Amino acid sequence: MINPPYYASDSRYDAGMKYERCGRSGLLLPRISLGLWHNFGDVDTLARSRDMLHFAFDHGITCFDLANNYGPSYGSAEETFGQIMKKSFAPYRDEMVITTKAGYDMWPGPYGDRGSRKYLFASLHQSLRRMNLEYVDIFYSHRFDPDTPMEETLQALVDIVRQGKALYVGISKWPAEASQFAYDYLAGRDVPCLIYQGRYNMMDREVEKSGILEQAARCGVGFTAFSPLEQGILTDRYLHGVPEGSRASIGKFLKADSITPALVEKITRLNAIAQRRGQTLAEMSLAWLLKDSRVTSVIVGSSSTAQLADTIRCLDNLNFTPHELAEIDIVMFS
Ligand SMILES: NC(=O)c1ccc[n+]([C@@H]2O[C@H](COP(=O)([O-])OP(=O)(O)OC[C@H]3O[C@@H](n4cnc5c(N)ncnc54)[C@H](OP(=O)(O)O)[C@@H]3O)[C@@H](O)[C@H]2O)c1
Repeated sequence: MINPPYYASDSRYDAGMKYERCGRSGLLLPRISLGLWHNFGDVDTLARSRDMLHFAFDHGITCFDLANNYGPSYGSAEETFGQIMKKSFAPYRDEMVITTKAGYDMWPGPYGDRGSRKYLFASLHQSLRRMNLEYVDIFYSHRFDPDTPMEETLQALVDIVRQGKALYVGISKWPAEASQFAYDYLAGRDVPCLIYQGRYNMMDREVEKSGILEQAARCGVGFTAFSPLEQGILTDRYLHGVPEGSRASIGKFLKADSITPALVEKITRLNAIAQRRGQTLAEMSLAWLLKDSRVTSVIVGSSSTAQLADTIRCLDNLNFTPHELAEIDIVMFS
């Protein structure tokens, strides 16, 4: 049977999604964005990837986070997205914020990695072709490259915007001092940095400690948290072992032997706090991030529409009592 054409749900903006202004820009982002790092590659089932993308957009998730090397294989998550863009999403392009990044190894030789102007432009051209897009909404420098002059990377971002290939630019995982340079450089050229993308969750508070989160807020730059569920650890996924097909069972970016008895004991205690709040652990973990208005959006990964549905329900309760917050900290840091 031929798949019926996709029509977005008429209730997509009444399904409970909330939108937050990104820094001092005019752009509102959904508090939940969908990331395509895992589960959208050419090793994955196209039907499942398509169902998740449709489900996300039907529930008000308007921001899709990609990078040149998401897959596996490299580039294939962008190709998957490009197929869905062509078949389903094209009429809705103006309702979406589509992002991509360059900064890691992508193709052989000296021009397929890091932060040169040569690499950033070539990579973006390739990404646009793979995604069947004329422009992306946000183009990120995926990582800080200490060997390329910052001016070169940042001027490439400026020129990418001036050429209309991206509407906004952002940086990911740049250290605080380099981030300040980037914010000043970009603002000085009337292409203000829209957003900082950093790893942040209940377990990993580095962006609090380094001042990155506060710095972004102070500079009028939005902040989006990646791996907000610590790749699935901060959910009920590993409460009773390592399930077949889970990220830890695949073992590339999350190893099964990192799910130690001590970690499971922590997750079990966190799960009990979540249950008392009437939430799943995934919902509580995301709510914990989104309670902070400095966090514009969280970029979740997902392997099913059921997980996405759970994820979205976090928005029903973003309030924590001081006692709950203290309890979470005791579990995390004891
Ligand atoms: N800038 C960067 O350098 C960088 C780095 C990493 C990620 N990112 C971005 O951030 C996005 C998210 O990263 P991530 O995938 O690590 O995020 P995550 O949200 O921390 O982890 C996603 C995984 O958690 C599990 N999960 C999700 N919802 C669940 C639920 N409701 N209940 C139980 N388990 C659930 C799934 O694991 P299973 O697959 O096992 O089911 C899913 O694949 C990426 O796709 C990418 O866009 C950016």
